[in-house]
Amino acid sequence: MIALGSDHGGFALKQEVIAYLEKNGMEYKDFGCYDEKSCDYPEYAHAVAHAVADGVCEKGILICGTGIGMSLAANKVKGIRAALCGDCFSAQMTREHNDANVLCMGARVVGAGLALKIVEIFLTTEFSNDERHMRRIAKIEE
Ligand code: RB5
Repeated sequence: MIALGSDHGGFALKQEVIAYLEKNGMEYKDFGCYDEKSCDYPEYAHAVAHAVADGVCEKGILICGTGIGMSLAANKVKGIRAALCGDCFSAQMTREHNDANVLCMGARVVGAGLALKIVEIFLTTEFSNDERHMRRIAKIEE
């Protein structure tokens, strides 16, 4: 189950992500927002981050205008490793090296085509399970 969240700035791109997940038969839970009325991104970051940290959802995707506010807010939640990605290489590396469990994107930064490719890579790339990466992640948790 993928947890989704956006503010008004990310709402339209989140709809594209939803269409992508549905087309690929992937389950998701949309924690809002549900329209383009101005709203506060930390509320949605909080909901998605807790769903992932509590094990209700395996991974999360958060979208705001830049992706920055969402990543700042999501990373306040213990156990969350939220990665702001605007390119495919970062999406792959943050899964392989950081075992990132939340993807953040900026709808005013990336177009839908690139965003969906980033989503695909983020959701299909496994953590490397390499000892040195596990050690570094443990240090983040400490
Ligand atoms: C909303 O205008 C904007 O500040 C928000 O979407 C996001 O970019 C914050 O980081």
